[in-house]
Amino acid sequence: MSPETAVAWHRKDLLGIAELDPDEIRLILDTAESFREIAERPIKKVPTLRGKTVINLFFEASTRTRSSFEIAEKWLSADSINFSSSSSALSKGETLIDTALNLQAMAPDLVVVRHEHPGVPHMLAKRLKAGVINAGDGAHEHPTQALLDAFTIRRRKGRIDGLKVAIVGDIEHSRVVRSNIHLLTKLGAEVRVAGPRTMMPVEVEKLGVVVAPTLEAALEDVDVVMMLRIQLERQSRQRLPSVKEYFQLYGLTARQLARAKEDVIVMHPGPMNRGVEISSEVADGPFSVILEQVEAGVAVRMAVLYLLVGARDGEAEA
Ligand code: CP
Repeated sequence: MSPETAVAWHRKDLLGIAELDPDEIRLILDTAESFREIAERPIKKVPTLRGKTVINLFFEASTRTRSSFEIAEKWLSADSINFSSSSSALSKGETLIDTALNLQAMAPDLVVVRHEHPGVPHMLAKRLKAGVINAGDGAHEHPTQALLDAFTIRRRKGRIDGLKVAIVGDIEHSRVVRSNIHLLTKLGAEVRVAGPRTMMPVEVEKLGVVVAPTLEAALEDVDVVMMLRIQLERQSRQRLPSVKEYFQLYGLTARQLARAKEDVIVMHPGPMNRGVEISSEVADGPFSVILEQVEAGVAVRMAVLYLLVGARDGEAEA
C-alpha cells in the first residue's frame, strides 16, 4: 500500500480542518480511496504500520470514531492500546499533561485523543513527540468526521465543488459542523446552515456560510442534507421549548426532503436521535448514506494514520 501522493504530506499532527489547504484535504481523500478496498478482502490486514504504536485516548464517549480508529489501526498492523480515563491514574489526581508525558515515555508513534475541552489535542501536540490526531475536542473540531463526510459525498456525487449542502440542527455546539464548514467551503461547496436561533452562533456567516431562516428554505434544491444531533451535554441551559416542537420545526421528514434535489443524499454523523432531528423513514430511506459514512470512517482513518506515521518518517513498509 503506497499511495503515490503520500510524499506531499508534512504534518506531524492532524488537529483540525481549519489549518489544512485544499490539496492536503484532497491528499487524505485520495489516500483513503486507495485503502477502501481492504474492507472487501477476505484477510483485512496490510503490513503498512507494522512496528508502529498508537495510543487511543478517549475522555468522552464514542462508538463510531473509537471503533473505526481501532479497526483502522488493526488493519494497518499497528500495535494499539486503548486508554480508559476512568480506570487510569487520572482518577487519583494525576494531571492530563503528566498522564500524556508518561504515555509518551513508552514511545508511541501516534496519539488519538478525544476530549470535552477544546484545544486539548493542540496542547498535547505541542508537548509530545508523537503525532496527535484530534478525534473531537469539545465543540471545536472533529476533522476525521468531516473528512469521512467529504469522502462519502465525493463517492456519491463525484465532486464537492459547486454542490449545495444544508447543515441543520444545533450549529453552535457541534464540532462536526465547524470541521465540515471549513472543509466544504475550502473545496468549493455552497453551505447553508439552519437551526433554532438559540443554537446558532453569532456571526456564523463569517465562516463563509449562509444562514437559512427555516428548514424549508435550507432544503430548497440542495444536493446534500446533513442533520445534527442536539448536543445536550454541551448546553448549560435549556435551549428548546420541547423536543416535539423541535421536530415540527427542524425534524427531517420525507415530506420536507421533497424540497431537495431528486438525487439528494441525507447524512448524519451519529449518534442519531430518531424522532428528534430525523424521522426513521428518512434515516432508513433510499436517500440515506448514514451507514456509508460509517464505512468511510475506517478508510479515512487508515489514510490519516498512514500519512502521519507511515509517510512522515518514510519507514513504513509498502
Ligand atoms: N460521529 C461521531 O463522532 O460518533 P461517535 O461519538 O460515536 O464517535
